[in-house]
Amino acid sequence: MSKTYNIAVIPGDGTGPEVVVEGKKVLSAAAQKFGFKLNYEDFDYGGDRYLKTGEVLPDSASEEMKQFDSIFLGAIGHPEVKPGILEKGILLRLRFELDQYINLRPVKLYPGVPTPLKDKGPEHIDYVVVRENTGGLYTGIGGFTMKGTPDEVAVQSMVYNRKQVERCLRYAFNYTRKRNKNNTLALCGKTNVLTYTYDLWERAFHEIGEKNYKDITREYYHVDATCMWMVKNPEWFDVIVTGNMFGDIITDLGAITQGGMGIAAGGNINPEGVSMFEPIGGSAPKYTGKNIINPLASIACGAMMLEHLGEEEAATAIENAIMDVTDNKIKDMGAGKMGYSTFEVGDLVAERV
Ligand code: IPM
Ligand code: MN
Repeated sequence: MSKTYNIAVIPGDGTGPEVVVEGKKVLSAAAQKFGFKLNYEDFDYGGDRYLKTGEVLPDSASEEMKQFDSIFLGAIGHPEVKPGILEKGILLRLRFELDQYINLRPVKLYPGVPTPLKDKGPEHIDYVVVRENTGGLYTGIGGFTMKGTPDEVAVQSMVYNRKQVERCLRYAFNYTRKRNKNNTLALCGKTNVLTYTYDLWERAFHEIGEKNYKDITREYYHVDATCMWMVKNPEWFDVIVTGNMFGDIITDLGAITQGGMGIAAGGNINPEGVSMFEPIGGSAPKYTGKNIINPLASIACGAMMLEHLGEEEAATAIENAIMDVTDNKIKDMGAGKMGYSTFEVGDLVAERV
């Protein structure tokens, strides 16, 4: 009997629904080819629903999501909704409540894709960032006093406990071992200034590495230097592990070096629970409904999801199909510049799967 996976789909806002259609198109082609089934159920979470009903996310949402094998998300962010409401109320809330404590972000330059990095090609840009995804500055601990007065004070704390740090580091070490490229894990921190939080990270990193991962080489970079080397010598990196805020920042830098938001995929992973796959780019509202947005990031998310579900062959087939398309068909990853419509790009990849 063939395996069936139940997938919750959150198309979301802006161009989210358009890219999700192409992602599903390619996923379905892979399912057919490799003999498994995908059942999709759509959820209307996003800006339009909020504007209509006043509710950002029903309280039952995460319990409901737990019934699925995976979540496939388009994009969250609506121009008519104040920044923060949907991001915090949907995206971050799901990440937190589903305890998706890893944000896995491959930085891989596919053949044929232009990169702004001079003299660098696919052989130089191929690493993965393991971003801690539920703690740090995103915890939301802080507040104001005397708000609105000249004496006002605002605090936002970078909070980590040992267990949170350890589970993230273990995931990163295991991932590095499984990836088996250079067997090198780099911690990205700021131990010269954040002498509490990143001191905890650094101690845990070396203790765990020394005890259980002697086969993995450990490196350390401050976050500012990490940015510099990601531009100058990206080939140095195999896997980078870091806290939530630094991970957010350096993965946008990484994304632009791999061809931009049209192509960068990510996964919010709970290794013991339900995970959610989403393109790094946002909802790009100005391109909505024009059939010009690049769906490759969503398609690559589909490959990540299948790999996570254990359908590794199918995941590889999708990735190979994407690479064939970038190498031979699309020369510019920008919306409206691909030479193909959103729909056609989905077709091109699906055909090759
Ligand atoms: C990302 C995004 C989110 C984040 C925002 C939209 C809350 O930038 O997924 O990187 O900061 O994590
Ligand atoms: Mn971000």
